[in-house]
Amino acid sequence: MLHPLRIAAVGLGRLGRLHAENLAFHILGVELAAVCSVVLDEVLEARKALGNPAGFMKFDEMLARCPLDAVVLTTPSSLHAGQIEAALNAGLHVFCEKPLATTMAECERAATAVARHPHRVFMLGFMRRYDPSYVFAKQQIDAGAIGRPILFRGYSVDPLSAIEDALKYAPHSAGQFLDMAVHDIDLARWLLKSEPREVYATGGCYAYEEFAKYGDGDNVAALMPFENGAMAFFFAGRTAPHGYNIETEIIGTKAALRINAVPARNRVEILDAGGVRQTCDQHFIDRFGDAYRNELVEFVACIRKERQPEITVADGVAATRIALAATEAFREGGVVGIRD
Ligand SMILES: NC(=O)c1ccc[n+]([C@@H]2O[C@H](COP(=O)([O-])OP(=O)(O)OC[C@H]3O[C@@H](n4cnc5c(N)ncnc54)[C@H](O)[C@@H]3O)[C@@H](O)[C@H]2O)c1
Repeated sequence: MLHPLRIAAVGLGRLGRLHAENLAFHILGVELAAVCSVVLDEVLEARKALGNPAGFMKFDEMLARCPLDAVVLTTPSSLHAGQIEAALNAGLHVFCEKPLATTMAECERAATAVARHPHRVFMLGFMRRYDPSYVFAKQQIDAGAIGRPILFRGYSVDPLSAIEDALKYAPHSAGQFLDMAVHDIDLARWLLKSEPREVYATGGCYAYEEFAKYGDGDNVAALMPFENGAMAFFFAGRTAPHGYNIETEIIGTKAALRINAVPARNRVEILDAGGVRQTCDQHFIDRFGDAYRNELVEFVACIRKERQPEITVADGVAATRIALAATEAFREGGVVGIRD
C-alpha cells in the first residue's frame, strides 16, 4: 500500500486556498501535510478548515522541520524562482503557479535548479492545458481538423467587480502581459506549435490611472507573427463589466474553433424584460475549477509514475520571455524582437 504523498500548500491567497482545499479533500493519494503563509489568520483558518495540517509562516522553517514529499507554490510571482530552488534542494517535487518568474535572470535560476534535479517532478500551473475544452481543441488541431492554423486570438479580461484585488496585486503582478496574457501566450505556443519572432503592443489606462505607476495599463493588446507564419492577437484587461471573460479563437484554412466565445456560466438563457441573456462566470475559480483539480491530479500521477509532465520549465522560460518582450513593446512603443 502506497503511503499518501505529503504535500504542503504554500501561499493561501486568492488561488492558494483553493489548491490547499483540493489537496485536502479532492486529490486521491495525497495528504495536505502543511500550509504556509505570511498571514497568520490564513494559516489558522486553513488549519481549522482543512484537517489540521501543520502550519508555518516561514517557508524555510517549513522545509527544515516538516517531513514532506512535495510543495505547491501559490505565492507572489517574484518569489517563485527562489522557492522552487529551495524546495528542489530540499529533495521535494515542485508544482509552481504561473508565471515561472518575473525576470529572465530568475527564470534561469529556476531552470538551472530544475536541471540539477532531474529525478524530482517539476510542473508549472498553466492550467488551461488541463481544461476539457482546451484539451478537445488541441486534439482537433493536432488531427488536422482546422487545416493549417492562421490566427490565434486570446482575450483574458478580469471582471470589473474584482478591480480592488487587481489594484492591490498590481505592485507585484509584473504587469498584465506576464500576469494575465501569459496564459494565452502559453496556449498560442501549445496550439500553434511554434514560437513568435517579434511583438507589437499597445494599450493604456482607460479607466484606472493607478496602473500607470507600475508601467502597466488596465487594458493592453499585442500582435505577434509566429515562425510558422501564423498570427497571434492577445487582449488582456481588468475591466470587463459582465464578469470573467476568457475567450479564444483559432482560425485555420479549413475551419475555426471558438472556446467560450460567450463566457456563460452555464447553458441557461434568461428571457426577461431586458431581453434574452446568460449569466457569466465572475471568478477564475468558477471558470477553471476543473482545470485546477486536473493539473494537481497530473502532478501527483507524475510523482507516482516517475515521469515529467508535458509542461516543462522551458515552457515557463519561453512564456516569460515573450510576456516581457510584450511589456517592453507596450512601455516603449513599436516592435520588439523576441530572442533566446
Ligand atoms: N493559474 C491561475 O489562473 C492563477 C490565478 C491567480 C493567481 N495565480 C498565481 O498564483 C500566485 C499567487 O497569486 P494570488 O492571486 O493567489 O496572490 P495573493 O496575494 O492572493 O496570495 C499570495 C499568498 O502568498 C503568501 N505569501 C507571500 N509571501 C510568502 C512567503 N514568503 N512565504 C509563504 N507565503 C507567502 C501570502 O501570505 C498569500 O497567502 C501568483 O503567482 C499568480 O500569478 C494563478
